[in-house]
Amino acid sequence: MRRLLLLAALLPLCAASAAERKAPPWEKPLAAGRQLYRDNCIVCHAIDPGKPAKLGPNLFRFFQNELTPLTKAAPSEAYMRIKIQFGGDLMPAYVGRLSERNIDRLVEYIRSRK
Ligand code: HEC
Repeated sequence: MRRLLLLAALLPLCAASAAERKAPPWEKPLAAGRQLYRDNCIVCHAIDPGKPAKLGPNLFRFFQNELTPLTKAAPSEAYMRIKIQFGGDLMPAYVGRLSERNIDRLVEYIRSRK
């Protein structure tokens, strides 16, 4: 019975697309980035169209929009990286907690949300 419950709990995790399932984890940068985003950013930043801001602004189309959602500056990868590494008044800093490679993955994922 317990095993059945465990199976039921794990089932939704298997719902990834067929293409994603075939590739080994290190060949799925967007899936890895999405997971990193869920682990580190989603509590404060929605990343879906039309979702209201949480503690921080919605990061949907961050790179494609003309201006950054809160500070209203030209969006750039450099700014995103600095923000992730050093945080802000309210946002935590991730330097030492996220590797360069994982920051790359996060940036790729955010770029894909357009
Ligand atoms: C505890 C909540 C919290 C978490 C977790 C968090 N942020 Fe933030 N973030 C904020 C807040 C609040 C602001 C605006 C004020 C500030 O800069 O502190 C912000 C600002 C930003 C901005 C600048 C937006 C603009 O318009 O200039 C970016 C980019 C950003 N966050 C990205 C991220 C990413 C990527 C992650 C995950 C690695 C993350 N944040 C995690 C709260 C958070």
